[in-house]
Amino acid sequence: MDYLQISASAKLSGTLTVSGAKNAALPILAATILAKNPVSVSNLPHVADVRTFLRLIKLLGGEYSEPHGELSGRQLIDTRSLDNTTATYEIVKTMRASILTLGPLLARFRECRVSLPGGCAIGQRPVDLHLKALEKMGAIINITEGYIHATAPSGLSGATIVFDKITVTGSENLIMAAALAHGTTKILNAAKEPEVVSLCEIISAAGVEIRGIGTDELEIVGTGGELLELQPIRVIPDRIEAGTYLCAGAITQSEITLDHVEPKHLEAVIDKLTQMGFGFEITSDRITIKPAKRIAPIEIVTSEYPAFPTDMQAQFMALATQAEGSSIIEERLFENRFMHVGELVRMGAQIALRGNTASVTGRAALTGADVMATDLRASSALVLAGLAAKGTTRVHRIYHLDRGYEKIEAKLGALGANIVRLEE
Ligand code: UD1
Repeated sequence: MDYLQISASAKLSGTLTVSGAKNAALPILAATILAKNPVSVSNLPHVADVRTFLRLIKLLGGEYSEPHGELSGRQLIDTRSLDNTTATYEIVKTMRASILTLGPLLARFRECRVSLPGGCAIGQRPVDLHLKALEKMGAIINITEGYIHATAPSGLSGATIVFDKITVTGSENLIMAAALAHGTTKILNAAKEPEVVSLCEIISAAGVEIRGIGTDELEIVGTGGELLELQPIRVIPDRIEAGTYLCAGAITQSEITLDHVEPKHLEAVIDKLTQMGFGFEITSDRITIKPAKRIAPIEIVTSEYPAFPTDMQAQFMALATQAEGSSIIEERLFENRFMHVGELVRMGAQIALRGNTASVTGRAALTGADVMATDLRASSALVLAGLAAKGTTRVHRIYHLDRGYEKIEAKLGALGANIVRLEE
């Protein structure tokens, strides 16, 4: 197993290119199940979850090829030969986002089996809202032997769905199901994350009428079972990867520039960093962060887009350890997303947890330690802490990190960080 070794780094400098967004790429790969043509997808990030999803498409009988070689990040995905409709436990257990195959498989084949994802390190994460919504569209759902068995013998029908809670992958599953349904589906309280908007735009570019894109009320006119002619797709930039590297600049008080980024998707993150005292220069696809005179403490509440993302909570907690004073971070989306707290405390952070709120007292003198990654974003928080700590930090179990960050050690290394990947 690999681990990352990080030694106290001087200031970072230079420009870093942001990869395509994992959370946009996964629903796009799922949407290729709806296509009647081979689909070109470019700017795919080289991360484990994307490789796992491609493997899943192959297991279902689809094909993919990389026309421009290993490093191009472009795939031609052909699901015309797809003939297996079971997403097995073996694959779902390594990637919860496999649930994204449920909507498109059911819509296309009228029958599918998808292993029920279990809980995970950050909380229970049920999929009840996905299932209830599909039932409203006429699906018959049975849970047997750990699998969701869904059928819709006459196809799915348009319906009005009101999500009790905003769910990102739930909205995406429904959008894909509705695209092939008979009649019009209304989704109220839909997620508005840029990754959801990107999926809507891709399906709309294939000729499906979608009203309300970018709002929480979507209306989708289904094709009545006809497969879609998907246009070539470019994955949008990863706002969470970008936000993480902005935090790397911030925690080391460095000036760095991010390229190939969508600043509009990062407004909540940039706003919080500005409140902490950091400066910015922003163009249409580049962001430069500049050091703060004094890092001010911050109050953060995680919420749905466009508010502050839960996927940036852990990284800001690492950064808050370096602020002058007390920061408050409240996690509203996931009940157990504080696994990084114990590890940060082992590095010298002062963090008190009460329910879903963490109080972080800065400025703490962090020292390097052996720490364990527990989930994807928690892992990147430990890397950030390692950049600011005195001495050497070893972050173990980085397979979590590899699920969502492309070549993190190469990207940070190119900016001057002392970071290497080693084997246990
Ligand atoms: C997606 C993102 C993840 C991000 C999260 C919140 C992907 C692949 N993953 O996850 O990185 O942290 O959005 O922005 O895009 N819930 C239910 N029942 C359901 C579905 C969700 O109770 O059927 C709850 C969840 O437990 C959670 C909240 O709703 O408390 C939001 O979860 P959701 O938006 O569904 O997260 P994911 O789509 O799994």
